Amino acid sequence: MTALTLESLTKIFPNGTVAVDGVDLAVADGEVMVLLGPSGCGKSTLLRMIAGLEDPTEGLIRFDDEIANDWSPRQRRVAMAFQDFALYPHMSVRGNLSFPLKLAKHTPDAVSERVADLATALGVGDTLERRPGQLSGGQKQRVAMGRAIIREPKVFLLDEPLSNLDSALRAGLRAEISTLLRGVGVTTVYVTHDQTEALTMADRVTILRDGRVQQIGAPNEVYRTPATLFVAGFLGTPRMNLLWATVYAYLDDRVLLDLGRQHLSLPWSDPRVRDLARYHGEEIVVGLRAEAVSPAAPDTPGSLRGTIRYVEHLGHETIAYLDIGARAAGAEEQAGAGHQAPSEEPAGKRRWWRRRPEPARTEQADGGGDGGRHEQRVADFALRLAPYGTAPVGQAVSVLPDLSQLHVFDRHGMRIRTRGPGASRTR
Ligand SMILES: Nc1ncnc2c1ncn2[C@@H]1O[C@H](COP(=O)(O)OP(=O)(O)O)[C@@H](O)[C@H]1O
Ligand SMILES: [Mg+2]
Repeated sequence: MTALTLESLTKIFPNGTVAVDGVDLAVADGEVMVLLGPSGCGKSTLLRMIAGLEDPTEGLIRFDDEIANDWSPRQRRVAMAFQDFALYPHMSVRGNLSFPLKLAKHTPDAVSERVADLATALGVGDTLERRPGQLSGGQKQRVAMGRAIIREPKVFLLDEPLSNLDSALRAGLRAEISTLLRGVGVTTVYVTHDQTEALTMADRVTILRDGRVQQIGAPNEVYRTPATLFVAGFLGTPRMNLLWATVYAYLDDRVLLDLGRQHLSLPWSDPRVRDLARYHGEEIVVGLRAEAVSPAAPDTPGSLRGTIRYVEHLGHETIAYLDIGARAAGAEEQAGAGHQAPSEEPAGKRRWWRRRPEPARTEQADGGGDGGRHEQRVADFALRLAPYGTAPVGQAVSVLPDLSQLHVFDRHGMRIRTRGPGASRTR
């Protein structure tokens, strides 16, 4: 059953800011839906509209299929939790949990039964007589969340509840909250800008950018099959390698994805090439995550050569960033600026059977004077190495991409749907 439905939900503030722009979303009963996106993409505004704290400019909000636009926050039966999980210090856990029910004038028997049930579900059943000062951080958090949801809200709304905490505590509480929400089975909309939080806690994630939905799907789905260039670059560490490539189709032979100095080659037997051949002569964006490339012996067929530009030691792994003579794509997507299409050239004018790729364009380093057209920026190609692996800057290395894990996007940043390996599993 659908607990919450948003239809074309839009919020334009009086100053003209379009904070939320035509969002369609359905949250199932008991589902944990995470809204993920960079700061300013409209997550809080969306949550506040669900809560009834902000009026939509356009669109519908339904609870259990009933239109709720005119309902007060109270009628919506939502619970909202913010960053501070404050408890009443002078009250026991039981007192803290009972308080909202007593305010709502439930009978004492109903109160103690509900408190006992919820405390057990939260794993704090044996702390009922303790004061908050006698609880661990995680227990406090669970009690505070319990207090927010004890009145059995239709929907539980959380706006970046962990963003003020240090990272060690955040990791622990992430797991706690996730377990708790599932234990209690409450429908939840959880807002965060942190991809790790989103991917670990969500049943499904909605990725937002500039008030619009980029993709909705299970964590593995949005990670494995990003629908847009923005999602591809937003999810995953290190960031997906996103490179401009010119497509050359050699009929009945192969498709070349020309990266500038080097190319990727897909044989005609690969079912994807038919979909890619339609882009003959055009620029597309290819994406390879660091986990899809591995170090290779020099001159391994299909490998790319590069030189190490810099190295990041992250403890559990080391990332080397290579210059492979390709141009970076998608950075402006991440910065939130409008995507700038590369120079237009009608595909039909190019001859589809042309035999030789054009010479690579000259590359310029960043900040080359004119604000730098994005396609001129040299890509840093991320490669995972063993922890503290030795990788001197300037050293030449070869890498072998696993082309079954290749992502392809058109110049508007939309995923190119292809058949065969790496094919889209989204609807
Ligand atoms: N009351 C307001 N008046 C005008 N603009 C606002 C108001 N609240 C938020 N905004 C703007 O709407 C956009 C979305 O804000 P918000 O929903 O807070 O984003 P997020 O929670 O994703 O960081 C931002 O550009 C923000 O500056
Ligand atoms: Mg916010």
